[in-house]
Amino acid sequence: MPATVLVTGGAGFIGSHTCVELLRHGHSVVVIDDYSNSSPQALLRVEQISGRPVDAFHQVDIRDRRALAEVFTRHYPDAVIHFAAKKAVGESVARPVEYYDTNVAGTIALLSVMHEHNVRRLVFSSSCSVYGNANKVPLGERDPVGPTNPYAASKLMCEQVLTDFCRRLPEWKVLALRYFNPIGAHPSGLLNEEPRGAVNNIMPLLTRIAAGRLGQLDIYGGDYPTVDGTGVRDYIHVMDVAEAHRTALERIDEASGMRTFNLGTGHGTSVLQLVREFERVSGRTIPYRITKRRPGDVAVLIADPAAVAQAWNWTTTRDLTAMCRDAWRAQERNPVGYSV
Ligand code: UD1
Repeated sequence: MPATVLVTGGAGFIGSHTCVELLRHGHSVVVIDDYSNSSPQALLRVEQISGRPVDAFHQVDIRDRRALAEVFTRHYPDAVIHFAAKKAVGESVARPVEYYDTNVAGTIALLSVMHEHNVRRLVFSSSCSVYGNANKVPLGERDPVGPTNPYAASKLMCEQVLTDFCRRLPEWKVLALRYFNPIGAHPSGLLNEEPRGAVNNIMPLLTRIAAGRLGQLDIYGGDYPTVDGTGVRDYIHVMDVAEAHRTALERIDEASGMRTFNLGTGHGTSVLQLVREFERVSGRTIPYRITKRRPGDVAVLIADPAAVAQAWNWTTTRDLTAMCRDAWRAQERNPVGYSV
C-alpha cells in the first residue's frame, strides 16, 4: 500500500476530507494547493481531527512544473491523488480557456513530473458530468459520455489523456473516480465546503440560507420530467468519497492500466426533497422560489455503483440524513467559515 501520498488540491472540500481519512489510516500525506478556492486553515483542521500532522504542505499552482518537480524531489511520493482543478460549471462556460488550462494542462504537467520521477500510481478526480444529458437511469461506466460544458469536457479530456498515457506506459496504475454529487462534511463539524467568492452548489447554499447568511434559494427549474419537477441528483456523503479514495489506494496495485469507477449511492433525490430533509434535520425553514432552469443543467443523474462494489467490495454507508446533519453541524460550528 502506498505509504507517502501526494494530494493535489488537498485543502479543498473533497481533498481535505480525504487527507483526514488517509492520516487516520497511517499514510504520510503531502499536500499541494494554490488556495485559489480553499484555505490553509482547512489543513490545520485536518491535523486537529486526525491528531497527526500533514507531513508537508506547499503552495503550488498545478501548472508549475518546476515547483511540482521540487515537491517530488523532496518527498518521493508513492502515489498521487489529484484533486486540484476548477469546478464551477457556470464559470467554465464564461471562461473556458482557464478551465482547460488549469484542469487539462495542469493534469498533463503533473503526469510529466510523475513520469520524470517514476511515480506511477494515480487516483484522478473525475465527474459524473462527463455523462452529460444521458437520459438513462442509472448510469454505468460504459454508458456513452457527452459533456455539456467546458468543466465536464475538461474532465473527460483528462480521462482521455490518462487512457492514452496508460496505453503507452502499461506499468502505470490509474483510477479515475467519477463522483456524482458530494455533499455533507466531517462529523466533527470542523471541516466544511468553504468556497471562496460566489457559492453555486446546493448544500453550501442551503447551510448559508438556514444560518441567515443568504436570503433565499432559487430552485433552477420546476418543469423537469422528475418526481416533483425539480432536478434529481445522486448525493453522496463526502466522507464516503474520502473513504473511496483511501480504498482506491489500497486496491490500486491489483491491476495495471486505467480503470474508471462511478462514486454514487444509486439513489436519486430531487432539489425539493433535499430542501425538505435539510429543513427537518436543521429545524430551520428554507425560503425558496422556483425559477428558470440553469443553463447546462440536466434533469436526472444517478450512478450505478455496482462496478466499484464488485471490484472493491465497498459501498457507501451514509444516508441523506447524515449528509444534511453533518453539513448543518459544520455550518453551526463555523458561522462565518474558517476565518474564526
Ligand atoms: C455540477 C456537476 C458536477 C460537479 C459539480 C461541482 C453537472 C451535471 N454536474 O453538479 O459534476 O462536480 O457541479 O461544482 O454538471 N440547484 C438549484 N439552485 C441552486 C443551486 C443548485 O436549484 O442555487 C440545483 C441544480 O439545478 C441541481 C442541484 O441543485 O439540480 C445540484 O446542483 P449543484 O450542487 O450545483 O451540483 P450539479 O450542478 O449537479
